[in-house]
Amino acid sequence: MSKKITIAIDGHSSTGKSTAAKQLAVKLKYVYVDTGAMYRAVSLYALRENLIVSGNLDSKKLVASLSKIKISFAYNKETDSADVYLNGENIEKQIRTLEVSSIVSKVAEISEVRAKLVEQQQAMGEEKGIVMDGRDIGSVVFPDAELKVFMTAAPEVRAQRRYKELVERGDDVSLDDVLKNVVERDRIDSSREDSPLVQLPEAKLLDTSKMTREEQFDLLVTWAEEAIEKA
Ligand code: DC
Repeated sequence: MSKKITIAIDGHSSTGKSTAAKQLAVKLKYVYVDTGAMYRAVSLYALRENLIVSGNLDSKKLVASLSKIKISFAYNKETDSADVYLNGENIEKQIRTLEVSSIVSKVAEISEVRAKLVEQQQAMGEEKGIVMDGRDIGSVVFPDAELKVFMTAAPEVRAQRRYKELVERGDDVSLDDVLKNVVERDRIDSSREDSPLVQLPEAKLLDTSKMTREEQFDLLVTWAEEAIEKA
């Protein structure tokens, strides 16, 4: 049996990270963890508890409430992947709105939030055999990951993909607002003090601007097989 490794996939928002990472995990029979969903879950909690007033997040109150936030994952056989739960409630659909997207970068800037989620992520990866996607997986969560990938794509391409997804699920949004959100999240994710999104020198670059999902998947599988071989 081949050795199990840790695969860290980081990159900009809406690059197709989650889809590619999920497919790769299925192929390798590895566990897949979408860490963005965890930051989104904390953001949904903040929204529900009215911790955002006129667009401003009450980070003190959120930090004080952290012990009340329990995030977990459970397998959904319809989608063949794990759904995220907040205090026992399946919130997979509720966390994908533009409302959550527009505050999540602010929530993800808070060090106490990051420390709590990173600890849980490291525990989930203890046994290896994991594909995890996010912004700080190769740099902070699993600095020793055997394979690190950095995914990106032109902002216009990413906004168009995200817009299509949101419209398909019935959300009333404009392409312009989605593009603004993509650009703003890039800015906050890359410039925050704690664990900013960085392209590590050892990470393999996957620019999906002009690639089909199939091409992305094939390349990831090749890289994963090489890394498993070397491990
Ligand atoms: O991957 P996503 O778009 O669902 O992530 C949502 C937000 O969470 C993103 O804007 C940045 C933040 N995030 C983070 O800071 N660190 C991670 N490991 C994953 C996501």
